[in-house]
Amino acid sequence: MTDAEHQLRHDMVRLCRSLFDRGFSVGTAGNVSAKLPDGILMTPTNATLGSLEAARISKIDAAGNHVSGDKPSKEVFLHQAFYETRPEAGAVVHLHSTWATAISCLADTDPDDCIPPLTPYVVMRVGRVKLLPYVKPGDPRTGDMIRDLDGDYSAVLLANHGPVVSGKTLFSAVCAAEELEETAKLVVALQGKKSRLLTDEQVTELRTTFGQI
Ligand code: 13P
Repeated sequence: MTDAEHQLRHDMVRLCRSLFDRGFSVGTAGNVSAKLPDGILMTPTNATLGSLEAARISKIDAAGNHVSGDKPSKEVFLHQAFYETRPEAGAVVHLHSTWATAISCLADTDPDDCIPPLTPYVVMRVGRVKLLPYVKPGDPRTGDMIRDLDGDYSAVLLANHGPVVSGKTLFSAVCAAEELEETAKLVVALQGKKSRLLTDEQVTELRTTFGQI
């Protein structure tokens, strides 16, 4: 194993434990992956993100074969769909975090833009978020739906299920998933209130200054 893979495995253990310890994941909910030069590292199925073991993290080769570690998450194809359509993605985080999942259950959520530009950081770290129709966990159709987006979104909400967020690095994907969750909390807190969104000009200024997601 390369030093880089060894480091990435330990980063996954540490960042997943941090997500779990702060309540972004409970029980065995959620899964996280990170890209390697020769495949991906994927959290095992039915593992709690709070107590992963570096050596047991699943490794999937570039052809999609499980080559080592425990049996991978049943959502592995959903992670692979992000890597296939967003070459810049270095990691993907799927959570059942409470507030983003709440928005994924709201009947009047705009499927093309379900997290409005309330704050600069959600624009800078997450961008526009697409709501994908409900299918059961582990259904490969979610991978097809993500591929159909052609890489235009770095984050999606799975209806009645939860968020999936990609990032250039494992750390940035985790930060983006946290930013999405905190913004979702604001969206729910502001429901029924007249709120002021960032204007198109302000969003453009952020994208020009800090780069496109
Ligand atoms: P896995 O335990 O297979 O990763 O599934 C957990 C999950 O979050 C399903 O959406």
